[in-house]
Amino acid sequence: NIYDNSDEASFYVANEIAELIRQRQRQGKHAVLGLATGSTPTKVYEFLVKFHQEEGLSFKNVITFNLDEYYPMEPDSIHSYVRFMNEHLFDHIDIKKENVHIPDGTLEKEDVRDFCDAYEKKIEDAGGIDIQVLGIGRTGHIGFNEPGSSLTSKTRLVRLDRVTRLDAASDFFGLENVPVKAITMGVGTIMAAKRIILMAWGEGKSEVIHQAVEGKIRESVPATFLQNHGNCNFIVDHAAASDL
Ligand code: GLP
Repeated sequence: NIYDNSDEASFYVANEIAELIRQRQRQGKHAVLGLATGSTPTKVYEFLVKFHQEEGLSFKNVITFNLDEYYPMEPDSIHSYVRFMNEHLFDHIDIKKENVHIPDGTLEKEDVRDFCDAYEKKIEDAGGIDIQVLGIGRTGHIGFNEPGSSLTSKTRLVRLDRVTRLDAASDFFGLENVPVKAITMGVGTIMAAKRIILMAWGEGKSEVIHQAVEGKIRESVPATFLQNHGNCNFIVDHAAASDL
């Protein structure tokens, strides 16, 4: 779906999420959201906050699972995805703390594996992800599933691609400060979501969007796996669609 600009596109995505939340409320059920960080989804979160503040949309029946977190990472660091999510969304809505899940960047190395297995189990116990929101990295990564990630990969500790670290370098005030690793949901975890919405804005994403949508399905561009998902939309602006 190609939109004139990221505002319109984000409004569409926020509305779809709000509609799911309301529908589940009517049924007395939970809505399970898979959430992403980065600059791409920030406007969607802005709209959701607006719907909460101005229209009374409640998040009391919402359970969230974030895609990824740098490792190691303290939650109060300016670089942490915990802080990002609090600042952009969770601090401004009525979601229950116990319903928010974000990979833990403070774990001891030997505890990471059990944590990741438990994360998968929690998603399963919640009934699976209803809507998974995604951005895309220049390497074709979704979450932090870098080139080489397999279709069946699950939540795990990964090594970040150099391109991804370079893209993050200015945020971290230098490449040497960018963590080398991260905990991410796997491609398999993402593919199990009932609905997937990948968003991309700007010319800088046009080449990777071209690869992801029209390229051969392959591990070297993990976003290509989404071509085989039965209910996945790419929501892009004209600039990100310019190589299609
Ligand atoms: C990071 C995140 C991804 C995100 C990507 C793109 O690597 N882990 O989930 O999709 O950045 O970031 P941006 O949206 O800022 O372009």
